[in-house]
Formats: sequence, C-alpha cells, structure tokens
Amino acid sequence: MIAIGCDHAALALKETIKKHLKERGFEVEDFGCFSSESVDYSDYALMVAEAVAGGKCEKGILVCGTGIGMSIAANKVKGIRCAHCSDTFSAKATRQHNDANILALGERVVGVGLALDIVDCFIDTPFSNEERHMRRINKISAIENKYFK
Ligand code: RB5
Repeated sequence: MIAIGCDHAALALKETIKKHLKERGFEVEDFGCFSSESVDYSDYALMVAEAVAGGKCEKGILVCGTGIGMSIAANKVKGIRCAHCSDTFSAKATRQHNDANILALGERVVGVGLALDIVDCFIDTPFSNEERHMRRINKISAIENKYFK
C-alpha cells in the first residue's frame, strides 16, 4: 500500500500520480487534500508520515508546490526518511543509499512526465542493503533517538 497526500498547490499532480500507480497495479491510500481550497501542507505530511512510520503503508508520496514543506514536515516523524527529488538519479539513489520511505515532489517544479518517471524510479528501486549504507541509516536512527522524545 502506498500512501499519498498533497496540498492545494499540487492536487492535480497527486491525482495524476494516484491514477498512474493504480494503473501499475499498486494499492493507494489517498490522505487528501481533495479540493483546491487552501490547506496546510504540514497536516497532510503528518498523515502520510504516520501511515508509513506505523507500517500501514510501505511507502509514501507527498506533493506540494515545491515539495520542500512536505519533506521538512514528514522528516519530523520518527522513522521517516523523506527525500525531496526533482530528478530520477536522486530518486533512484535515495532508495539505494538512504532507504527513503517517502518521496516529496513539487508540482510547481517538475512537469508531469518527469514527476511520473521520478515516482517510478522511487517505487521500483530496492534498498542496496550494503553494510556502509545500513551503518549510515543506523546513525540517522541514533540521531532520532537522541533528539526525539
Ligand atoms: C503553498 O502555497 C506552498 O507554500 C506549498 O505548496 C509548498 O510549496 C510549501 O513548501
């Protein structure tokens, strides 16, 4: 199950990504928003991040105007490694190296074609499982344990 969420600035891209993922055979849980009325991206980042951190969804996709606010907010949830990507190289690398579990995209930054390619790279690329990458991710967890309540 893939969790997806957006704010008013990225409703169209969220709907396009959701349709694309469903056509590819993935189950998608849509946490909103569902209209172009102005909302706060942080509320949607929290819902998607909690669904991923809690294990209800294996990955998440968050879209806002830039993708930046969503990524900042999602990364405040323990266990979340949200990668803000505007290119396919980064989307692939963040799965291989960082085992990122949420992708953040900006509708005002990337076109639809590139956005869907980024989504596919993110969804299709496995974590490398290499020792050096696991060690670094474990150190991120140690930072969380030091600073999160
Ligand atoms: C909304 O205007 C905009 O600030 C939001 O979508 C996002 O870009 C924030 O990071």
